[in-house]
Amino acid sequence: MYDETLRTQKEVLLCQDGSNTLYSKEFDEPYHSTKDGALHESLEKYVKPSLSLKSSQEKLIILDICFGLGYNTFATVYYIKKYNIKTKVHILSPEFDEKLVRSLDTFDFPPEFESIKTIIKAISKNLYYEDDQFKIEILLGDARESILKIKEKIDIVYQDAFSPTHNPLLWTYEWFRDVRGICKDDAILTTYSTAAAIRLGLYENGFYIFVHRAEMMRYSTVASLEMLEDMEYIDIELKKIRNTEARSMKDRDYIKEMNA
Ligand SMILES: C[S@@+](CC[C@H](N)C(=O)[O-])C[C@H]1O[C@@H](n2cnc3c(N)ncnc32)[C@H](O)[C@@H]1O
Repeated sequence: MYDETLRTQKEVLLCQDGSNTLYSKEFDEPYHSTKDGALHESLEKYVKPSLSLKSSQEKLIILDICFGLGYNTFATVYYIKKYNIKTKVHILSPEFDEKLVRSLDTFDFPPEFESIKTIIKAISKNLYYEDDQFKIEILLGDARESILKIKEKIDIVYQDAFSPTHNPLLWTYEWFRDVRGICKDDAILTTYSTAAAIRLGLYENGFYIFVHRAEMMRYSTVASLEMLEDMEYIDIELKKIRNTEARSMKDRDYIKEMNA
């Protein structure tokens, strides 16, 4: 289904915010938008909106889909340390590219991550890190299988797979159903995708949908299992009336294609 040879073929790309990302030949796509920037995108689309919506909680469990270069996880730790936030954080992150994670101690990360170098090294070596405030676990293997084994109940989901076109099985109705199954009743999900099909897949699994706007950044999506105040709500029922063709993605359309 996935190509192990192509998986090893990656090129470093410099993003407009000065941080580095990679180009994946396997998925024919960069790991981050070079325009939005790897670090900038992590902070603005994932870390800041999530931590601000969950600022009252003493402990947070985050599902980071998928680990990749670890920007979303590392930016979370960086941000919490920088602002001396006391919240305890447990991050679970599926990833099937073990070689990539093991190579991260030599990846040229931005200077902001200097202060968390020991954490990056530990993840790269052990695929695990723990101290008094942070616990980070890489779940090696296919995310579709890994998330079914998670026992923890999730507060925040960072939905950051490759695009729905190139990585469809991490964007279907059934994927979001399984994600929903391990979420707390007030969980939120942040994602760069603003596609109607993705928002529908989330909505059909009980998520309310909101627009998230950040400075110098394309808008993105926040989904929540509870209605949120002070966020730009999207009425999906109205969208369905206006766009009768829109459908959520379904496993059957992609599994068939991959088995053909
Ligand atoms: C867009 S990148 C993630 C970027 C990451 N969030 C970051 O901040 O660096 C997508 C990642 O998903 C992984 N991936 C794709 N399909 C997967 C699957 N079915 N199971 C586990 N990992 C998968 C790829 O190997 C890649 O590392």
